[in-house]
Amino acid sequence: MIVNGRPQPCDPRPGQCLRTLLRDLGWFGVKTGCDTGDCGACTVLLDGEAIQSCLLPAWRAAGRQVTTIEGLAGADLHPMQQAFMDAQGFQCGFCTAGMILTAASLTQAQRAELPRSMKGNLCRCTGYRAIADAVAGVRHVGMLPGNAPAPDARAVVTGAARFTLDIDVPGLLHMRLLRSPHPHARIVAIGRAAALATPGVVAVFTHEDAPDGLFSTARHEDVRTDPVDTRLLDDVVRFVGQRVAAVVAIDVAAAEAGCHALNVQYDILPAVFDPAAAMQPGAPVLHDKRENRIADPSRNIVARVHRRRGDAEAGFAMADIVAEITCTPQRIQHAALETHAAIAWTQDGVLVVRSSTQVPFLVRDALAHLLALPPGRVRVLCDRVGGGFGGKQEMLVEDICAFAALRLGRPVQLALTRAEQFAAATTRHAMRVTARAGATRDGVLTALALDVVADAGAYGNHSGAVLQNACGTVLGMYRCPNTAVDAVAAYTNTLPAGAFRGYGLSETLFSMEQAVDELARKLRIDPFEFRRRAMIRPEDTLGDGVEIGSYGLDQCLDLVQQALADGSGSPVPCGAEWRVGEGMAMAMIDTAPPGGHRAETRMSVAPDGMIELLVGTAEFGNGTSTVHRQVAATVLGVEPERIRLRQSDTALLTHDTGAFGSTGAFIAVQATRRAAEALRDRIANGGPPEALGRVDGLQRSVAFNVHGFRVAVHAGTGEIRILRSVQAVDAGRVLNPMQCRGQVEGGVAQALGAVLHEAVRLGPDGAVENASFRGYHIPAWADLPVTEVLFADTFDRLGPLGAKSMSESPFDPVAPALANALADATGLRFTAPPFTADRVWATLANAIPRASSAS
Ligand code: FES
Repeated sequence: MIVNGRPQPCDPRPGQCLRTLLRDLGWFGVKTGCDTGDCGACTVLLDGEAIQSCLLPAWRAAGRQVTTIEGLAGADLHPMQQAFMDAQGFQCGFCTAGMILTAASLTQAQRAELPRSMKGNLCRCTGYRAIADAVAGVRHVGMLPGNAPAPDARAVVTGAARFTLDIDVPGLLHMRLLRSPHPHARIVAIGRAAALATPGVVAVFTHEDAPDGLFSTARHEDVRTDPVDTRLLDDVVRFVGQRVAAVVAIDVAAAEAGCHALNVQYDILPAVFDPAAAMQPGAPVLHDKRENRIADPSRNIVARVHRRRGDAEAGFAMADIVAEITCTPQRIQHAALETHAAIAWTQDGVLVVRSSTQVPFLVRDALAHLLALPPGRVRVLCDRVGGGFGGKQEMLVEDICAFAALRLGRPVQLALTRAEQFAAATTRHAMRVTARAGATRDGVLTALALDVVADAGAYGNHSGAVLQNACGTVLGMYRCPNTAVDAVAAYTNTLPAGAFRGYGLSETLFSMEQAVDELARKLRIDPFEFRRRAMIRPEDTLGDGVEIGSYGLDQCLDLVQQALADGSGSPVPCGAEWRVGEGMAMAMIDTAPPGGHRAETRMSVAPDGMIELLVGTAEFGNGTSTVHRQVAATVLGVEPERIRLRQSDTALLTHDTGAFGSTGAFIAVQATRRAAEALRDRIANGGPPEALGRVDGLQRSVAFNVHGFRVAVHAGTGEIRILRSVQAVDAGRVLNPMQCRGQVEGGVAQALGAVLHEAVRLGPDGAVENASFRGYHIPAWADLPVTEVLFADTFDRLGPLGAKSMSESPFDPVAPALANALADATGLRFTAPPFTADRVWATLANAIPRASSAS
């Protein structure tokens, strides 16, 4: 075939698809997102037509012209590459090559059919607005003060940016994992002879080889945050999909064949799949007596929050009206386009792990502990990471990959398939949340209460911290003297839950913001006005005595209310069966990750005159690399292009807790500001041109988001159409409006997917039934409405140049705002997302006979 204009001799393996062949040949711009033709990350042009190269047998490209992103243009950029740079039509950039190639190949007729003609290309980060702008030729970079481009922009649009697996490692071995078919079983024996005899297989590892030590896959600054309950390979499996054995071979096919050849005998154990049932006497107990930091092992309770302020029951007794709502927010998957992946090798006595992690320094510490190595003999590094959303705050592949590389003395790679990512990586916690809210006739809250049962899954990672965040923040945003929280997370024989954007808050908020909305409706007080009376104010303190500092909640409410009232948005569809309603919800985020947070950055003037900035934070679409460079340039009074950024490598710095809990900008960028100020002062005083910036400990930032919807619901079909979507955010001083808007749009898009159609479906044995993009359905461009993003005008004196966090929180108010709009339209409460048309229709259909008989 001819690849990017040059004849390419090649000899594909039997059954090999074009994508893997191209990657084997070093065309790393061709990405692996799904294996099933659903995501478009592997898009190439075949004789000028965009195709998904994972679906094409490689031999069918014989004699044909194949164009990857690397060959789309010559020395200059292709106009579509330039357009993606000008609009910054990407965040993590993992989807970008495929997006550009598809967009560049559209005919006039296909352009007229946008966005349907881009339905084969998925993006999890952007919410597609920036991509739409790129395809339409709208320019954002440099058009507003602060709209600095991403440092890697050119590399991303040309395919030169390197993600985790985009390197050539000589002698690389590949690992595949055999996973449990049973929800709960003891492994009696594993016969490995046939696997070891499989051609190409180099090694098989089982629990007999694994270190005894337990750890948590969750990573936090303080390792005491999470239960210690996981073993690298265990002799008991607790969910369908858990690792049983690892096979290392010369290629992936041989490793898979080795997995098939393993002979495992299981002793099946009783299993439990519902967290409420798991806490009952007589339920199978999942824990092992060596495990610790578990709240009540005998009842499978991983974590518990019991908190009282004032007297909630007395507060409810005082109320003129009480609203109570029970909701069941479901498991959802991060669905980052790049799956979890790692490559491990040893070099000069140091274990090196190239990882897709959000937390390289915490993974380094965990590996050192688990593998009994001094931290100085472990190096973890990331290039670009293809999306995280909290999922890559877990150590899911690095441990076993590093273990194998150390044992074999050869480089080993492990990348989860998309099916494994769905079936065996972590999810958002499924919860049953009852919210009660009581108020006087004039809208003064007298009591709030939350009762939560969360499904931790088979391991307890993050569960305690998720409960703390979920229950604390949702009550903290209201002025109420009497509050009560009773929350538990329990083990079940299902895949583990973990950190997910919002960290539990989206689930509790979904119930509480509906209960508060119900109060307002019953009292016939406008929901915006009700919140104004009930919400916290600037002079208030949060539950643990922390001052709010900078406050823009009032502005956010005004902005959304005015936007909904201005009459813009899509017209109401024709037909008597459409019911129209409006709804809103508010959210607060208190950037207070459990166990504290630390960051260190270094700056120096390099011999070539560039200013070198070393930061620990990984870039996974959160935009922190742009903001690091922008803040450093602002402080030093130079162009951002003068700043050369190196990042996310434990060899560069001593420590950085990592980017999670909305800390990327607030903590690490603050360290960069300090380093830049120190460097500026040193240069002014004639000192050596190098400086260190540190943030050691927790700085708190409180940000607010308010979302409003106007929706139409079809009573006969259950179809929901979003006519207007607007979110106002209090992000402090907005340093880069283009990027901040993108973060909000991406968060809203992910939340719309979660409330409208996404759900990890579990079968009767707890196994994931829809382990593919096609079965799961993250939003495509055509699925999403345009969301207007509005900014409050505030300044956080603790934040870098006045900025606040704005990465997780745009997700949180979306689902309750939509539910409140549905209630306004139909008079019914929708409590069990996702709100697919069939489920909405069923709720409506069930309600109509009751309404008729009542009348
Ligand atoms: Fe599209 Fe991350 S930018 S998947």
